[in-house]
Amino acid sequence: MVPKTARDLVAEHLQRWGLASFVQDARTVASELVTNAVQHAPYGVVGIAVKYADGELRIEVEDGSPDDPAIRQPDGEGERGRGLQLVQCLSDAWGFQRKAHGTKTTWCAFHAPSATGGGD
Ligand SMILES: Nc1ncnc2c1ncn2[C@@H]1O[C@H](COP(=O)(O)OP(=O)(O)O)[C@@H](O)[C@H]1O
Ligand SMILES: [Mg+2]
Repeated sequence: MVPKTARDLVAEHLQRWGLASFVQDARTVASELVTNAVQHAPYGVVGIAVKYADGELRIEVEDGSPDDPAIRQPDGEGERGRGLQLVQCLSDAWGFQRKAHGTKTTWCAFHAPSATGGGD
């Protein structure tokens, strides 16, 4: 899974769900989460999920790293350490969850009520 594949997958789902206004931000956060899994986890991305239920849009990226994602405070011109800041700013909530089989999922969520009622 490369970041572009994730961005396109997210855009495709959101269009189908009538959530076009979220496409730009959702593509950005999906790209950052997948990039992190590729860069910081030994086996990269294990899975990606895009879910929409009860007015909440959720993007989950699973990887094989035992390390926790952590917001960094890059100084000044530093180019690294801004991905999760971006995720935190653009989404309404984010976090991570360990899985029993040793992987972890980093997720973020958007409050996304739909005029049509939404759903899957
Ligand atoms: N999926 C992940 N697995 C393990 N560590 C992660 C993961 N995502 C982020 N991190 C940790 O959180 C830090 C901050 O991530 P980020 O803000 O995207 O900055 P960057 O990727 O440029 O270092 C990373 O430097 C890394 O230490
Ligand atoms: Mg990053």
